[in-house]
Amino acid sequence: MRDGVGGTQMDLGIKGRVALITGGARGLGLAEAEALAAEGVSIAVNDVDRDAADQAVSRLKELGVNAAAFIGDAADEAVVVNLTKQVVGELGRLDILVNNAGIGARPSYRVQDMPADAWDRMVHIHMRSTFLWTREAIPAMRSQGWGRIINTSSMNYTGGGRAGVSHYVAAKAGIAGFTRTVAKEVGSYGITANAIAPGYVETDLIGGFTSEMLAVVREQNPLRRLCTPREIGSAVAFLASSNSAFINGELLCIDGGRREFYWG
Ligand SMILES: NC(=O)c1ccc[n+]([C@@H]2O[C@H](COP(=O)([O-])OP(=O)(O)OC[C@H]3O[C@@H](n4cnc5c(N)ncnc54)[C@H](O)[C@@H]3O)[C@@H](O)[C@H]2O)c1
Repeated sequence: MRDGVGGTQMDLGIKGRVALITGGARGLGLAEAEALAAEGVSIAVNDVDRDAADQAVSRLKELGVNAAAFIGDAADEAVVVNLTKQVVGELGRLDILVNNAGIGARPSYRVQDMPADAWDRMVHIHMRSTFLWTREAIPAMRSQGWGRIINTSSMNYTGGGRAGVSHYVAAKAGIAGFTRTVAKEVGSYGITANAIAPGYVETDLIGGFTSEMLAVVREQNPLRRLCTPREIGSAVAFLASSNSAFINGELLCIDGGRREFYWG
């Protein structure tokens, strides 16, 4: 079996827990949902795309777990406040929060050409959603004395920045810094907060890449390939598990060892 597409299921000690995944209808979010469902975790799928979220829920139910869609903009305060209550009401608890919702780094602009609206939109969707869901999830996790918060940064930040996408890099750097602080604030409640920094993963987000660009991405990676969504899912399941209990405030690079950008 090829690396990244298979693997054996482990008992990660989280059966019966409830996870909420923002942007969980497709791509990394769906793979993370599937990996957690394989461990017996019930899944709340938040997304703006109702049809895709309903399909994701059907797929997760086929894996034998309870799952439901919670539709709405992950960066809208009223939506997040209401949906968090609905998740706890319908699924009984909230143990694992995966802040994953996001948009691609395109269109790209050098800083001197960056429209303020493009900057605001990028920071708003990534950072505001991560802040809001974290804020709303903490009381539920604290009352249970256990929680896992997993945020989504990017190799675009850990790789030292990339020319043309300062809005995306700034948002992903902000998420990494936010995670470190949250980890210090919630550790004493039995909650950990960590972030992942994926390299290029085969999802719709990089659908605009030409075959030439993808060839360069493969060539520049020590493993000579892109990451699969499943590989992100298994890392998130580990961070959500009891096996990772003493890992807190960490930024986990899942980039095949690439760690650097040569473009731009
Ligand atoms: N694909 C990669 O190579 C890669 C690399 C590093 C980091 N990331 C990050 O991983 C996350 C997921 O990326 P992906 O590749 O799975 O993207 P994707 O486009 O395949 O899926 C993103 C999902 O998020 C949803 N979404 C977008 N905005 C939302 C909002 N405001 N509220 C609720 N849902 C919303 C979309 O409808 C979609 O279902 C993003 O934060 C992205 O920045 C991706």
